[in-house]
Amino acid sequence: MAAVLVFLLLSAFFSVASAQLKSSDIILGSSLSPATNSSWLSPSGIFAFGFYPLGEGFAVGIWFARIPEKTVVWRANRDDPPVPRNATLLLTSDGRLTLQKTQGQIKTIAEASQSASSASMLDSGNFVLYSSNRSVIWQSFDSPTDTLLPGQRFPADKQLFSSNSKVDPSTGRFRLKMQNDGNLVQYPIQTPDTGAYAYWASGTFGQGNNVSLNFNSDGRLYLLNTTGFNIKNVTVGGFPTTRTTVYRMTVDFDGIFRLYSNRLDRNSSWSIVWNSTSNPCDPKGNCGPNAFCILMDQRAACNCLPGFDYVDKEQQSLGCKRISSAENCGDQNKHIKFDMVPLDRTTWENDPYLTLSSITNQEDCRVACLEDCNCEAAVFGDQGCSKQKLPLRYGRRNLDESAIVFVKVGTEGTTSITNGTSAVALKENKNETRKVILIISVVFFTCAIVVLVLSAVLIHRHRVWAYKKISTQGTTPLGVPEEIALRSFTYSELEKVTWSFKEKIGRGSFGTVFKGSLPSGQCQRIVAVKRLEKVVDGEQEFQTEMKAIGRTHHRNLVRLLGYCNDGPNRLLVYEYMSNGSLADFLFIRSEGRPSWDQRVGIAVNIARGILYLHEECETQIIHCDIKPQNILMDEYQCPKIADFGLAKLLKPDQSGTFTSIRGTRGYVAPEWHRKLPITVKADVYSFGIVLLEIVCCRRSVDNDNSGEEAILVDWAYDCFKGGELHKLMRNEEEVVDKRKFERMIRVGLWCIQDEPSLRPSMKKVVLMLEGTVDIPIPPCPSSFLSAAI
Ligand SMILES: *[C@@H]1O[C@H](CO)[C@@H](O)[C@H](O)[C@H]1NC(C)=O
Ligand SMILES: *[C@@H]1O[C@H](CO)[C@@H](O)[C@H](O)[C@H]1NC(C)=O
Ligand SMILES: *[C@@H]1O[C@H](CO)[C@@H](O)[C@H](O)[C@H]1NC(C)=O
Ligand SMILES: *[C@@H]1O[C@H](CO)[C@@H](O)[C@H](O)[C@H]1NC(C)=O
Ligand SMILES: *[C@@H]1O[C@H](CO)[C@@H](O)[C@H](O)[C@H]1NC(C)=O
Ligand SMILES: *[C@@H]1O[C@H](CO)[C@@H](O)[C@H](O)[C@H]1NC(C)=O
Ligand SMILES: *[C@@H]1O[C@H](CO)[C@@H](O)[C@H](O)[C@H]1NC(C)=O
Ligand SMILES: *[C@@H]1O[C@H](CO)[C@@H](O)[C@H](O)[C@H]1NC(C)=O
Ligand SMILES: *[C@@H]1O[C@H](CO)[C@@H](O)[C@H](O)[C@H]1NC(C)=O
Repeated sequence: MAAVLVFLLLSAFFSVASAQLKSSDIILGSSLSPATNSSWLSPSGIFAFGFYPLGEGFAVGIWFARIPEKTVVWRANRDDPPVPRNATLLLTSDGRLTLQKTQGQIKTIAEASQSASSASMLDSGNFVLYSSNRSVIWQSFDSPTDTLLPGQRFPADKQLFSSNSKVDPSTGRFRLKMQNDGNLVQYPIQTPDTGAYAYWASGTFGQGNNVSLNFNSDGRLYLLNTTGFNIKNVTVGGFPTTRTTVYRMTVDFDGIFRLYSNRLDRNSSWSIVWNSTSNPCDPKGNCGPNAFCILMDQRAACNCLPGFDYVDKEQQSLGCKRISSAENCGDQNKHIKFDMVPLDRTTWENDPYLTLSSITNQEDCRVACLEDCNCEAAVFGDQGCSKQKLPLRYGRRNLDESAIVFVKVGTEGTTSITNGTSAVALKENKNETRKVILIISVVFFTCAIVVLVLSAVLIHRHRVWAYKKISTQGTTPLGVPEEIALRSFTYSELEKVTWSFKEKIGRGSFGTVFKGSLPSGQCQRIVAVKRLEKVVDGEQEFQTEMKAIGRTHHRNLVRLLGYCNDGPNRLLVYEYMSNGSLADFLFIRSEGRPSWDQRVGIAVNIARGILYLHEECETQIIHCDIKPQNILMDEYQCPKIADFGLAKLLKPDQSGTFTSIRGTRGYVAPEWHRKLPITVKADVYSFGIVLLEIVCCRRSVDNDNSGEEAILVDWAYDCFKGGELHKLMRNEEEVVDKRKFERMIRVGLWCIQDEPSLRPSMKKVVLMLEGTVDIPIPPCPSSFLSAAI
């Protein structure tokens, strides 16, 4: 007891004593120079303040002194050029911290309100200036650059800016702002603080005007409101805290902010503990103007708009410029023809100078822009046709995007198509160009003024709208990555995820499915883990298929989240579908049969999913096993196709075909039995069967029905031929659009033709189901076969 008391007294004494003057204090008159004494260390030597080499010269900053890889956490006057070797950093005798570059050129490092009487590099990484009564009058923690350290408070209205590149610490292209509306948001630089430009947000809008970001020593980043209440943990924290583990949070030059850790005793490099997104295409504008970001092997790559080329081939993220020097159309450039080149599945900043909502088809939109000499690009989408000026910004590939971008490109001269980008080179006539420059300038100037006024009005409206948008988003954080990268799991990880494969939720042709729970941000995500059986052993094949499946992305496909390829264990992790399969939905649902309209919607959606697999994804995928058991229903009762892309992995049997597929009686196309080559048309056949099942709401083979009704396809054709379609409607009371009913039956009968070439493509099927094309009277499904025999 007494010992404790003595200890307390002693420590109290020392803390008072140390308040007077610490040995680590830097006294007035001290100086640093790159050549000799280049830095001041913190007491335990973790951090250093002073000169560090940068480019050809030196910069002033704070870095981790005990980590071999130079990690700078703060830089003074970050946008200034490096200083030469003979520069001096001085804590002047009148209490100012200054940097002398050349004789007479003196720059202040710390703008303090009063003169300092000492300074100190603290072990927290904070460099502070003290007044004579030892209150802090300036600290580096108050003006962070791109990094926060544990213990540092990041108050409302402050921003962190990323660096320009790995080697250039000057202000880069991204910012993280602690807004005074309570939201912590990431934007590109030079944008308004509105939802339209945000690419990540903490989702804490409306939690008061004094919310701050705080950083614990266990790596937890969290938001406190004015009353000190923890309103959100940005990172969960609870990461290892040994005396030698250090953390930092940095807005990296690629726009993602990450939490890193390092062990001072290990001489290792930094490891990422947490990141704001794992999709490097998320940060808006990481590809520069007129370029869009695509994911390649989990890395961001930049592609140019058609007719554009990189500003700098070595630094593709700087954006793209026109190949042709002819910027605009008009009678002046008679010898140059312009065309509108389409680019689909990309998303861009929505900042049109004019939106024509009356235009409802692509062609009109294309022409409208082509004929308007102010229009450099047009976007045709749900809102109509919006005319845009260049540059187009914040582009990224988005497989879900239905809007199409048209880019105006000069087409005279030689046209060369480079990978994925059509590049157009122009022969120009310089004399003529000069003549028209004046005219163009006048026209352009006039137009520019009109455009300016228009955009001012539009931008104003847009901002008000966008702000409302971000505020209504309240609790759902922005920036949910649209293309989650496929994750590779170890077997033991998945054992944990599925609680040692405890909860079995199904069995399919490829193996058993278990329920699991995967940490995702701060919440748990329910997943379905499929343990593959009977698949080929080939490593290469497996990886290839995983890649192909991982690249698919459609609202009517079950999303693959990750896989495990661990020794003999092959497992797939899928998003979890909460509403069972289409088979349950159609045939054994407790709430009774789904309505006619619901069924029509389901049929069209399944068709779209298959169309995507056949024609719209990067590698064509033949499903080979379309059946109601392989179509799952999500929480909104929207159908999603499962198990696609796996057919190639099945072990072939002796006859060279896939046994388990042939096993799915009632859905396989006749060519399987005839050992003919399998094409996409095999899926069309299976879809036809499923379509008839959906329309008639019964199984294709129904043993409860006797005689002619037992086999749906035969019976359906008989009814159709005999003009007795009402027999197929099981529930007479149901309100069914009779014409639509007949259309659907006709589509189904076309799909189930024995002869593959007679079956329509999925594209055609979708058009027929949507009612945009006429459907001829289908022949008897087996007529071709009987004729051939
Ligand atoms: C470097 O610092 C030490 C004390 O920290 C001092 O004794 C020495 O004079 C300094 N050298 C120069 C060149 O400033
Ligand atoms: C450093 O050297 C350059 C010439 O090499 C000179 O112009 C400059 O004044 C010097 N700076 C100082 C602080 O002496
Ligand atoms: C230190 O001095 C300043 C004025 O120079 C004063 O505002 C502040 O309250 C003083 N702090 C302490 C702890 O005495
Ligand atoms: C801080 O958050 C708590 C809990 O949400 C709330 O009760 C309190 O009023 C908030 N304080 C302010 C100033 O908004
Ligand atoms: C803001 O909140 C912090 C606590 O999170 C508090 O210390 C500070 O005084 C508050 N500032 C204002 C201006 O309310
Ligand atoms: C944040 O994390 C801490 C420690 O893990 C926990 O005690 C606290 O309840 C969490 N707060 C919120 C708002 O989730
Ligand atoms: C630390 O690692 C670097 C290279 O990673 C090596 O050059 C250096 O010698 C190592 N230092 C110690 C003390 O092991
Ligand atoms: C994000 O962090 C995870 C580890 O937590 C890492 O595997 C992934 O590569 C990171 N992504 C990026 C883009 O940094
Ligand atoms: C792009 O084209 C170049 C030659 O023009 C070729 O070397 C390169 O492999 C192509 N890249 C892709 C991804 O097709």
